[in-house]
Amino acid sequence: MGYRNENAEPSAATFRVWPDDPTGFSTHRIGKLQHNFHQHPLFQVSELAALAKDLVPFGNCRFTRPGITQASSFTHDSQHPDGRSVEEVFQRIEEPGSWVALYNIEVIARYQVLLCSIVDTMRASVEREQPDIFDVNGFVFISAPPSVTPFHIDRENNFWLQLHGRKTMNVWDHRDRVVVPADAVEDFIVGHSLRNVRFEEEFRPRSLQFETRPGDGVYFPSTSPHMTSSDPAWTAPGDRVSISIGVTFYTSVTRSMARVHQINWLLRRFGLSPAFPGDSPAADAIKTPLGRLVGAARWSLAKELGPARRLRREAKAPPGSF
Ligand SMILES: [Fe+2]
Repeated sequence: MGYRNENAEPSAATFRVWPDDPTGFSTHRIGKLQHNFHQHPLFQVSELAALAKDLVPFGNCRFTRPGITQASSFTHDSQHPDGRSVEEVFQRIEEPGSWVALYNIEVIARYQVLLCSIVDTMRASVEREQPDIFDVNGFVFISAPPSVTPFHIDRENNFWLQLHGRKTMNVWDHRDRVVVPADAVEDFIVGHSLRNVRFEEEFRPRSLQFETRPGDGVYFPSTSPHMTSSDPAWTAPGDRVSISIGVTFYTSVTRSMARVHQINWLLRRFGLSPAFPGDSPAADAIKTPLGRLVGAARWSLAKELGPARRLRREAKAPPGSF
């Protein structure tokens, strides 16, 4: 695929992500980023429309129902609620309230290369604290305001980049147990359920709020609660679309934390209140190898005894879950 306007755009070597405060960046806390990937040819709307078509056979174009709020549960479907094709969704993308997300864009080779190049620009800063980056994935969110992405947590660390238009991003510290209780984090990591990860308006002042434009970004660690919104105030004819990407990745640290959650989930069933991962290095050192065994055992049991045994046999355990 050729790059258009090569003279007007940064070359492949100069596309990069960098921390707003290079001396203060840490993988263990939320941090503001800058980047120039919004100028990359593969992140322009026409290329993203082509990517969406490529993703249809994988079921990776996801849609939400109309009327969702930041407090709604974060559920999405591979069918548009009105039955629209992906082509029609992009033709009508400027209509207020449009929403489409492109999940796991790394399944398309040209985007896998691009995602790795994004992470590579920050690799040294990450691996000095969290060695062994693996499973780099990409999730693109395209919407026309008014639009939201509901409150939720993810397993992976995230380089979240605004590519087009404006968006407000709220992120909470992943250690804030008022916003998401420890057992709710465990239910997500171990049981894959966001049922008890719920937004309350009183949580908002505890978040960091970023008003983002193309070239802005936010780094946040695994299980940091987050949500977005985009207001129509900035829009104009021909410029009504907000696009962002979450470039997510696991490390040796996210994997160890997931293993500790596996043990904590079990201990809680015996009425105990175990130390959250990171709170007690001594406890974590014991729990980590045990958590790997428990996670692997639970997964093989689920595969054998689960309701859709044949399908589950082919499925892969989320890499960050144990
Ligand atoms: Fe997310």
